[in-house]
Amino acid sequence: MTVAKERSKVEIFNDLDSELLDFLMTLRNNKTELIDALLSLPTSRALYDKFVHEPLPADPIERAARWFYKLRQKIIPTNGAASGFRYGKIKNSAIDYKNAVHRLDAFERRMSSVLLECLDFREVISRYDSGSTLFFIDPPYYGKEKYYFGGFNKFLHMELARMLHQIQGKCLVTYYGDPFILDLYRDFHVRTIDARVGAVVKADLGEKRRKETEYFFMNYDPNTL
Ligand SMILES: C[S@@+](CC[C@H](N)C(=O)[O-])C[C@H]1O[C@@H](n2cnc3c(N)ncnc32)[C@H](O)[C@@H]1O
Repeated sequence: MTVAKERSKVEIFNDLDSELLDFLMTLRNNKTELIDALLSLPTSRALYDKFVHEPLPADPIERAARWFYKLRQKIIPTNGAASGFRYGKIKNSAIDYKNAVHRLDAFERRMSSVLLECLDFREVISRYDSGSTLFFIDPPYYGKEKYYFGGFNKFLHMELARMLHQIQGKCLVTYYGDPFILDLYRDFHVRTIDARVGAVVKADLGEKRRKETEYFFMNYDPNTL
């Protein structure tokens, strides 16, 4: 999201998990070695499964390489569900992976104008709220918290909603449509997108992909922007 959006004057990226920061530091400190390590890894389901089931190693280059490999070799997860190895009959996922490695310089440049925080959301909201702040919030999906770092829970979903009802700035929160979440944001403006999810190749082959409705809750009227 941060990389895809237009630049703003002030940009903050926050995640309690510091793996992105660790990756960027390894890219800075050992760029050639990291890129060589990434390019030398074959695109392989067996290797992906092995990495998924092994804890990240301590060596910073190998750790960063595995983090990126797992991120790029999986189907984009939907609804917090664990997702599997990305493969295809039409798209060449090995070439996609290699291209992503070759774009790391551009990624590093883009992220160099973003302030990275690794804080709990309560601290970030308190610290950065202002009349001109826009918070884009992509919390762990309700009921699927175990798939994410940080031990999110029902109380924290409620606390997040409570805080977002009191901020001075604007916020856009994304979730799937569980009744508990719909109730927390019942007084917000809502937009939905029906996203087709699953392997991209299925769409290329004209096969059915699963449909999920993604909800965007806003404390402002998007028509007045
Ligand atoms: C749905 S994911 C967001 C993924 C991100 N938007 C992306 O595209 O990579 C939810 C994230 O919330 C983070 N998280 C969990 N508990 C948190 C907390 N208390 N404060 C801030 N972030 C937290 C997790 O580490 C996880 O990366």
